[in-house]
Amino acid sequence: MPNTLNQKRVLLIVGGGIAAYKALELTRLLRKAGVGVRPILTAAGARFVTPLSLSALAEDRVYSELFSLTDEAEMGHIELSRSADLVVVAPATADVMAKAATGLANDLASTTLLATDKPVLMAPAMNVRMWEHAATRRNLATLMADGINFVGPDEGAMACGEFGPGRMAEPPVIFAATMALLGAGRGPLAGKRAIVTAGPTAEAIDPVRMLTNRSSGKQGYAIAQALAAQGAEVTLVTGPTALPAPAGVRRVDVESARDMLAACEAALPADIAVCVAAVADWRPKSAGDRKIKKGSGAPDPIALVENPDILAALSKHGRRPRLVIGFAAETHDLEANAQAKLAKKGCDWIVANDVSVAGTLGGDDNAVAIVSSGGIERWERMAKGEVAHRLAQRIAAEFN
Ligand code: CTP
Repeated sequence: MPNTLNQKRVLLIVGGGIAAYKALELTRLLRKAGVGVRPILTAAGARFVTPLSLSALAEDRVYSELFSLTDEAEMGHIELSRSADLVVVAPATADVMAKAATGLANDLASTTLLATDKPVLMAPAMNVRMWEHAATRRNLATLMADGINFVGPDEGAMACGEFGPGRMAEPPVIFAATMALLGAGRGPLAGKRAIVTAGPTAEAIDPVRMLTNRSSGKQGYAIAQALAAQGAEVTLVTGPTALPAPAGVRRVDVESARDMLAACEAALPADIAVCVAAVADWRPKSAGDRKIKKGSGAPDPIALVENPDILAALSKHGRRPRLVIGFAAETHDLEANAQAKLAKKGCDWIVANDVSVAGTLGGDDNAVAIVSSGGIERWERMAKGEVAHRLAQRIAAEFN
């Protein structure tokens, strides 16, 4: 990362949750990229990480008291809230989110969030039941309407022994979101335009029914975020997902494969295209504008026609992006299958996902290989957020 971000500062609020330890790694990543980190540690946060560790990694002092005479003399809380370019809350606990949503200001973290005029990024972390509680849903909606940016949470096994959404995003993913918000046009991909497709497509059968698939969109969203973190101007063309828009990314919502292709073409010219979407291969031949009624027995079979192949269309386009990348899930003969797909689609790289590796399908990790005409590059098994981060770096290397 060039030194252009050296002058940038993040005010990092560390809330009280088991995920607080990940804030240390986030601090390390930010410092390594030349970003200044000024930490605020809540009283609950200090039960999980020590001010000393945070201060040592941030190379700055830690602020924690609202009514500390020395703190206020050095830098008042209003000034503190405005001394950074971005406020990052990691972990953003249910408590921190509730206070921010209602405008409560009874400690340094909540007062700072109320007083700041800078963009805010929250990385929620809490028990799945707390995350799914109607009160948290309400607070999330309020904060999003207030313009707060979110990254995560992930789904997975939690420290409390339960499983579900609520686990804080991994540090490289929060780092990417932070850099995207700070960077806006800086970094090795500055001036480059990227299109990323993500999520499923939904193909109408009639006005109320559709054909779709279970793609969550996570990998595509993480890649869009990671490319923005490298400074690219990213358009994310997405089918219906439950995910919030990644920070600093232009999001275009579509439903069908044909709409997805049209949105991609409208986003041209671009330097990079990464097709991660799980596009429905077929769609119903005719989706009438009237609901199919039950009548007597099952309706006639639904005739299907093939959908456009977006990856192939972008690869053959008159305004083809310089680097076109596709994804493939393979269970066997990974290299041979990926090479065949490269030739068939006309793209430059296939990111082949080896789903035969135990624990990768539907899990948090991925074992991928980058297949190009030059051969195969196998990556060790790693978290999905890390795959996105590494892929964006690999793309950036191709342009520099
Ligand atoms: N793709 C696309 N448009 C389609 C179908 C696929 O853009 N209509 C893209 C996907 O986004 C992905 C790649 O093509 O980048 C996957 O290719 P596909 O031929 O669908 O491969 P698999 O899903 O692996 O299926 P199979 O191996 O069964 O051919």
